[in-house]
Amino acid sequence: MPKRERYLFVCNNRRADGHPKGSCAARGSEEVHAALKAELGKQGLAREHARACTSSCLDVCHQGVVVGVSPEGYFYGKVTLADVPEIVEALRKGERVERLVIADDDFDESK
Ligand code: FES
Repeated sequence: MPKRERYLFVCNNRRADGHPKGSCAARGSEEVHAALKAELGKQGLAREHARACTSSCLDVCHQGVVVGVSPEGYFYGKVTLADVPEIVEALRKGERVERLVIADDDFDESK
């Protein structure tokens, strides 16, 4: 497989039920990852342009489900299954879904 232009890292961290931080997996990240993979294939990006991978905790748990986009280095937060087609469509156009991008100030939960 060739090196893709972009890699999407979907946090798949799972914490125990009732943990105060929650986790992306508990918010549906495994389903989001699977849907991203399927949508990348559907829109013809999977083989050369973009790959959806899983990751451990990206340390922005309160924004889960979190997806990091490389190499640009921005993060999507509170991603749901309904957002997946829009995310992939934006990738195809070389754009990003601004309403889902985590602002720098929103990384720190205490702010
Ligand atoms: S559990 Fe997903 S960012 Fe921490």
